Amino acid sequence: MTEAQSRSSLLSVLGRKAVRPCPIWLMRQAGRYLPEYQAVRKKAGSFWTMCMSPELAIEVTVQPIARFDFDAAILFSDILVVPFALGQGVRFEDGHGPILDAFGGVEGLVRDEAIWAEKLAPVYEAMRGTRARLAPEKAMIGFAGAPWTLAAYMLEGKGSPDQRAAKLAAYRDPEHFTRLLNVLTECVAWHLIRQLEAGADVVQIFDSWAGGLPQAAFVDWVIGPNRRVVEIVRKAVPGAKIIGFPRAATESGYQVFAAQTGVNAVGIDTAASMRWAARVLSSRVAVQGNLDPIALIAGGDALKRAVDDILSAAEGIPLIFNLGHGVLPETPLDHVAQLVAQVRGAA
Ligand code: CP3
Repeated sequence: MTEAQSRSSLLSVLGRKAVRPCPIWLMRQAGRYLPEYQAVRKKAGSFWTMCMSPELAIEVTVQPIARFDFDAAILFSDILVVPFALGQGVRFEDGHGPILDAFGGVEGLVRDEAIWAEKLAPVYEAMRGTRARLAPEKAMIGFAGAPWTLAAYMLEGKGSPDQRAAKLAAYRDPEHFTRLLNVLTECVAWHLIRQLEAGADVVQIFDSWAGGLPQAAFVDWVIGPNRRVVEIVRKAVPGAKIIGFPRAATESGYQVFAAQTGVNAVGIDTAASMRWAARVLSSRVAVQGNLDPIALIAGGDALKRAVDDILSAAEGIPLIFNLGHGVLPETPLDHVAQLVAQVRGAA
């Protein structure tokens, strides 16, 4: 494959072609493991300032492409820009992850597209600027959090291992919770459409908290909202390419997700079997994943074997090589370079 085919290779895979070498990008590829990211972050002072300053966001978005020649850039931003647009205050404290202001009920949320557009203007400016800076053969990925995952952050006020506040809210007042998911669906779809209009070739929907739900809840809170987001986006942007990532879903959960949401590709997490995904999911969607981020820290033979296992399990199917979750800050740079070389070397 030549460089010039790179963007089209990701898009071909999303059209369910089994391209080899397969395209590769990594979730959280723009982040703290890169010294050049740390330098910009220090200059900016805070993570949120970087997200809301187009020049800085563009700079860190292209850093991992410059260093590792990944096939796609993912816009440097965060899933919590949607709660921010809806009027819930968000801050990031070093070492604590995101903290949101207390949730004031669905009625208090801002449902005015002009206000969303104003608050998120820096994100779309960063998308346009990155597309202009990026070589034409590189694919540009936009993203948003899925409604359930965003609801979990909004109701809990922070990350939570069991999403207790959101589940309790949903069980105690299903009608109010459904209205919250509906408002989020509307804003998430709108945000993805704006990113596609600003130059994204593909968008990914992160449902990071899709694991551990009762089956009926998975259908109502994960499948339904993801399907509606896809429908709304495709109505505005026919043929829009969309990757879904219902992280830590069960095998049957992933299967229903692939069959019913309308996404072009499904990202699978580290614990899912690529061999199973290749057999069961690839008749409907491309598959993305799923190297263990900790194998990437370990490097050496363990990394080499893990990559070989994924490539051989996915033989003959449309695969986008990625991790099963984001790159961790302590990841050695030469292991990432080694990973890219190995994936590219496998014809
Ligand atoms: O993938 C990329 O390189 C693009 C940028 C991106 C970030 N966050 C930058 C970021 C993307 C796609 C996200 C998505 C995101 N954000 C998710 C979904 C993916 C997942 O990890 O499940 C979630 C749940 C969030 C919310 C969020 N943002 C958390 C929980 C944290 C703290 C955790 C951590 O790693 O520190 C963030 C902060 C964040 N978002 C960082 C980055 C690079 C670290 C900020 C820093 O301190 O510099």
